[in-house]
Amino acid sequence: MSAPIPPADPISSGIPTPDDVRGVLAGVLDPELRASIIDLGMVHDVRVEPNGDVVVKVALTTAACPLRGQIGTDVRSKVAGLPGVSEVRVEYDEMTQEERSELMQKARLRASQSAPATEVPATTRVIAVGSGKGGVGKSSITANLAAALAARGLTVGVLDADIWGFSIPRMLGVRGRLAGSKAADGKGKIAPNEVPVGDGLLRIVSMGLLVDDEDTALMWRGLILAKALEQFLVDVSWGALDYLLIDMPPGTGDIQMALSRLLPQTEMLVVTTPALGAQKVAARVADMARRSYLKVLGVVENMTEFVAPDGSHHAIFGAGGGKRLAALTGAPLVGAVPIEPAVSQDGDAGTPIVLAHPDAPAARELNTIAERIVTELLPPVEMAGCTARMFDLVQKLA
Ligand SMILES: Nc1ncnc2c1ncn2[C@@H]1O[C@H](COP(=O)(O)OP(=O)(O)OP(=O)(O)O)[C@@H](O)[C@H]1O
Ligand SMILES: [Mg+2]
Repeated sequence: MSAPIPPADPISSGIPTPDDVRGVLAGVLDPELRASIIDLGMVHDVRVEPNGDVVVKVALTTAACPLRGQIGTDVRSKVAGLPGVSEVRVEYDEMTQEERSELMQKARLRASQSAPATEVPATTRVIAVGSGKGGVGKSSITANLAAALAARGLTVGVLDADIWGFSIPRMLGVRGRLAGSKAADGKGKIAPNEVPVGDGLLRIVSMGLLVDDEDTALMWRGLILAKALEQFLVDVSWGALDYLLIDMPPGTGDIQMALSRLLPQTEMLVVTTPALGAQKVAARVADMARRSYLKVLGVVENMTEFVAPDGSHHAIFGAGGGKRLAALTGAPLVGAVPIEPAVSQDGDAGTPIVLAHPDAPAARELNTIAERIVTELLPPVEMAGCTARMFDLVQKLA
């Protein structure tokens, strides 16, 4: 008698397990109840077919919820980011009266628990800009994308999570110290530094705006990085934000883990240079993101080529790194930014190239990346409101 054939091993067959799917779904938040749809018990069923098709059944508070489109889009986008997934179908269910009161109880409990609830609204799209290696242009990309998004009339938070190697204040030309403020609940909060850009607004927080000089920064080194990040998310009165861009320190580890705990809706934008080596280290960041269930939003290749005044193209740092990394992670290559001295000069002068020289090739590419984020990759959340009344109730009861 022959031994029974064991079921396909999901790892070796390359398709995710239902638990993997639930892992990324923990990053989908109900925009009004401000909690993960997993924690709220809104995911009734997850099925993974042998061909990689995934069916997720989401239970809504009311079948006619105007936010169902938003939740469905987020579910599809997060799950489709998992390697091995072919198609994602979302089915809707309506909660029973019993489930609804259980959900309200959970939401109430969350609202009453102070930590680790952040001051970042659940409707904010969070993008962490990371790379495995230093000096590839994370901060420059963060500063420019933030400015480009704000120039579209959006309110954009910029969190410099490179706690000790901060460069955001210089690149965005902000100097003043962060001011304290009293929140409605009487607790002291830190107010971000604000810089208007066109009809939009940048709200900037960096260790560089808290400490006087780099020597003082050195004295603060004892502070655990993840704790500092937590403070920036919990103690800063961010206010309403369409986007929060986070400039990550080089490498992987603590900060990424802390982010997935504090802001599970975070998506990673991975920066690489065209060099093969850089692309390999960047792949580690993407891998780490996956393991912490953060979706990789896309890959940006920076320092792609240098176009000389005579029009000739020079691939100074090699070619193809971005494309290879995109293929490796299954995330789209969102753009390729050329080497241009003005990127560096404008950054040093405190006005990002997208604002200082919008017609420069690098600025145009950075603007296209911002455009793709807004229109296609991670559009701002439209607040329509179905559980809004419920949420008000929750707040009153808390
Ligand atoms: N496309 C570009 N063209 C020319 N110079 C660039 C470009 N991108 C970045 N630079 C310059 O390269 C240097 C490193 O960039 P940046 O500080 O943004 O990198 P980073 O990845 O944030 O570095 P770190 O790991 O130290 O935080 C800076 O001097 C910046 O002005
Ligand atoms: Mg940097």
